[in-house]
Amino acid sequence: MAALKASKQGLAKIKQKRKELGWPIGDHRWLEEASSILGVSWEEKGYLADGISEGTWSRFLAGKEGINTPAFKAYCQVLTINWEEVANPLERQDWDSAPDVSVFYGRTEELDRLEEWIVKDRCRVVALLGMGGIGKTTLSVKLAHQIQDDFKSLIWRSLRGDPPLQDLLGELILFLSNQQKTDLSNTLEGRLSQLMECLRSQRCLVVLDNWETVLDTGSLAGHPRQGYEGYGELLKRVGESQHNSCFVLTSWEKPKEVAAIEGPNLPVRSWKLKGLGSDAKNILKEKGLQEESLWEELIQLYKGNPFALKIVATTIQDLFDGSVSDFLNGTLFLGDFEYLLSEQFERLSQLEKKFLVYLGNYAEPISRSQLQDFFCSEISVTELLKALESLNRRCLVEKINNENGTFFTLQPALAKYVTRKYK
Ligand SMILES: Nc1ncnc2c1ncn2[C@@H]1O[C@H](COP(=O)(O)OP(=O)(O)OP(=O)(O)O)[C@@H](O)[C@H]1O
Ligand SMILES: [Mg+2]
Repeated sequence: MAALKASKQGLAKIKQKRKELGWPIGDHRWLEEASSILGVSWEEKGYLADGISEGTWSRFLAGKEGINTPAFKAYCQVLTINWEEVANPLERQDWDSAPDVSVFYGRTEELDRLEEWIVKDRCRVVALLGMGGIGKTTLSVKLAHQIQDDFKSLIWRSLRGDPPLQDLLGELILFLSNQQKTDLSNTLEGRLSQLMECLRSQRCLVVLDNWETVLDTGSLAGHPRQGYEGYGELLKRVGESQHNSCFVLTSWEKPKEVAAIEGPNLPVRSWKLKGLGSDAKNILKEKGLQEESLWEELIQLYKGNPFALKIVATTIQDLFDGSVSDFLNGTLFLGDFEYLLSEQFERLSQLEKKFLVYLGNYAEPISRSQLQDFFCSEISVTELLKALESLNRRCLVEKINNENGTFFTLQPALAKYVTRKYK
């Protein structure tokens, strides 16, 4: 049976109405009246209508799980509320392999801003960018949970496994049309048009994780992989056409189509995800580390990357008996984080690799003109700027702006990785 639950705003309305009516939460009259609306009088029969019970009433009030539609409507009628105004409009959701995010720390500022972009500003494409392990996937799931009330359909997909665009489009069209549009076009162009129809006809949230999978390696950042050029066209269409829906994507690199059409006041925007900061202490606490006074230093060393911190925290427990000071006295440890860094490093163009090695070997942040002086015999200024911009789009270099200009540097873990690789 179809189930309904209250939206966030709906819950506030239910609470307000309950207060106005003045009966305590546990008053049996709520149930009796709802039951008689469904045609079963408690006084006459001594039992309640199907679906009316203390359990459904408390689930209705909590709004976390759906309850059957007749009971939902009856409870609304008792409260003299129009059920359509309080019911969560989300009719269809498919979370596929989205991870569980019940353990989630910090990111309140990010979630607030992203919600504002999507719900208030009606952005059509939002790209969550950041290096491996920084928390993009986790944030995308948390965000989707937070804003789901604003949508009629929600679908979350990872692009791992490189689905051909035609297949992905087919899956999206079938899901978003509630399996109604079965006459799928045989051409990419046709399917793009069918998808746009779905995005126009209702408000849908489509989350696509691991966008970097469909981007090229060995060239500048954000260019589509051979055979996957259609994905760029998809982004352009969704970003530039009129519709009511939103695509959220996560990626190691900013796709070039996003770079071309994004802007702080435009419907296409990107968010570069930083580390967790002090909130990462919760991860260290979870792992049972000691010497809390040193946790901030440890977090800084790995720039608050939750994946890296999980790895080192396990190592500190296993090999250093939980002692952070012993661990910090040794050499910077990368563990399995190295594989993730290596995967990202191998995607770079030759020139970007050279820049990273140069930055990694240099203790101080470096200005663009210093880079230019060093590489002037090898490359033109245009090539240098392109490579720098590309690195910036990959979230691998840190940019520091101060009164003396713009400087570039690498975070310690990446510096360690490149200098060890190119000793
Ligand atoms: N806000 C958070 N609170 C708690 N744990 C987090 C948070 N963000 C990320 N994590 C944890 O950190 C790890 C890495 O996160 P996640 O997989 O989201 O990173 P990612 O940026 O998607 O990485 P990749 O680029 O490799 O896909 C996961 O184990 C996740 O549970
Ligand atoms: Mg991820």
